[in-house]
Amino acid sequence: MKIFAVVAQIVAIFFSFILISGSCGKGGGDTPPPPPNPCSGATVAVTATTTSPTTVGGTNGAITASATGGSGFTYTINGGAFQASGSFTGLAAGTYTVIAKNSNGCTGSGSFTVTAAPDPCAGVTINVTAISTNPTTVGGTNGNIIASATGSTGFTFNINGGSFQASGTFNNLAAGAYTVIAKDANGCIGTATFTLVNPNPCAGITINVTGTTTNPSTVGGANGSIVASATGSTGFTFNINGGAFQASGTFNNLAAGVYTVIAKDANGCTGTNAFTLVNPNPCAGVTITINNTATGNIPCEASNGSITASATGGVASYTFSLNGGAFQSSNIFGSLGPGNYTITAKDANGCTGASGSTTISNLPAGPLFSSVRIVLQNNCVGCHNNSQAEGGMNWTVDCNIVTFKDRIQARAVNSNPSVMPPTGALTASDKQKITDWINAGGKFSN
Ligand code: HEC
Repeated sequence: MKIFAVVAQIVAIFFSFILISGSCGKGGGDTPPPPPNPCSGATVAVTATTTSPTTVGGTNGAITASATGGSGFTYTINGGAFQASGSFTGLAAGTYTVIAKNSNGCTGSGSFTVTAAPDPCAGVTINVTAISTNPTTVGGTNGNIIASATGSTGFTFNINGGSFQASGTFNNLAAGAYTVIAKDANGCIGTATFTLVNPNPCAGITINVTGTTTNPSTVGGANGSIVASATGSTGFTFNINGGAFQASGTFNNLAAGVYTVIAKDANGCTGTNAFTLVNPNPCAGVTITINNTATGNIPCEASNGSITASATGGVASYTFSLNGGAFQSSNIFGSLGPGNYTITAKDANGCTGASGSTTISNLPAGPLFSSVRIVLQNNCVGCHNNSQAEGGMNWTVDCNIVTFKDRIQARAVNSNPSVMPPTGALTASDKQKITDWINAGGKFSN
C-alpha cells in the first residue's frame, strides 16, 4: 500500500505536469515540443496462471496475473475497475482479458482462458433396472418398485422427482408410471420409467347369463319379452343389443328376433347370451281344404285333361302346386293326360294343405263316334285292318278313325276322288252318321 501510494503520487505529479505543460502551451505564443511519451519503448507484458472451477458449471475459477515492463501495476479484468492485485477469483469457465497498467499508465493485456472442470459423468452410463410388483387389487396401493443401478457407485434414488434416498425400494405404490432416477456420488444420473398396472378384475370370473323368453303373441307383434339374470358375480346391470345398461334384466315390448343380452358386474366384467323370440306359428290350427274338379282327357289328341282347384280354410290369396311343382297363382292346371294328381295350396301366411289324389281318366267313346266306328266295321275293315291296310289305313284302331276323319269323309261321303268302299257306296244313313260326327267335332268323345 505504501508503494501504491507512492506510485499514485508519482502518477498524480505526472498528470499535473501534463496539465501544467498544457496550460503553458496555451498560455505561450509559440508551440513547445511535446512531452516525451513515457510509454515509448516500454512494453508491458501480462502473464497469468488460470485455475478451473472445481465443478462443471462452477464459478470458483481464478486467474492470477502478473506483469512485466514497469512497476506499480494495477490490473483490470474484462474492462472492470483496476485493482492492485492481479488475482481474480469467482470466475466461470471462459476467456478473459486482463489489462495491466504500470505506474506510468502504460498498459499491456493478455487473454486467458479458464477451462471448464472436467465432466465427471463423461463416459459414465448409469442403467436403472427394477423389480416391480403390481398392486394386488384394483386401485390398491401396495405395489412397489425395487430399483437398482449399474455403471457407477454410491447411488441414491428418487421417484417421480421426490427427494433422493439411499434405497432403491419404493413401496405403497398404486398403478401408474413411475420415473426412478439413480444418482451416483458425482451427481451423474440414470433414469428409467416403470409402470405398475392394476390386476385384471375379471380374471377367473365367469358370468353366465340366462333368461326366460316370451314370444310375441301375434305374427309381427311386439309384446315379447326377455327376463334375464346373471350369475358369477354381483352388482349386475344389463343391456340388450348394445343399448344402455339398466339395473333390471327384464326387457319388454320385443318383436320376434335375436337379442343379445349383456350382464355387467360392478367391476365391468361381462357375460353375454343370445335369446331368440319367434312369432307364433300362423298355421297352427289352420286346415286348408282343397276341392278339385277334374276334366277327363279325350283320347287320340294331345293331353287335354284339366284340374280346377279351390282352397278354403286359410288366408287368401292362395297359390297352387301340381304334384309338388312350382306354386302358381292360377288354380287351373291343364294339358293333363290320364293319371293321378295331387294339388297343394298355400295361403297368404305360407300355410299349406294338400288335396287327396285326383284322377284324370280318358273320356269314353262318344255316341256319334261309336256309330261311325260301327259303320266302318261293317263296311271298311275288310280291306283296312292290321294285316291289310289299303292306302295305309287301318280302321280297327280307333284313333286312326279320329286322325283321318277328313279322308274318311272325302272318300266314303263325298266319293272324292273315288268312292269308298270301291265295291259300292255307303247308304245315305251311314254317310249321315259320318257327317253328323264330324260336324259335332269329330272327336273320340263325340
Ligand atoms: C274292297 C276293299 C276296300 C274296301 C271295303 C274299302 N276300301 Fe278304302 N281303299 C281300298 C284300296 C284298294 C285303297 C287304295 C286305293 C285308293 O286310295 O283308291 C283304299 C284307300 C282308302 C283310303 C286312303 C286313300 C285316301 O284317299 O286317303 C281311305 C281313306 C279309304 N280307303 C277309306 C275307306 C273307307 C272309309 C271305307 C269304308 C267306308 C273303305 N275305304 C273301304 C280298298 C277298300
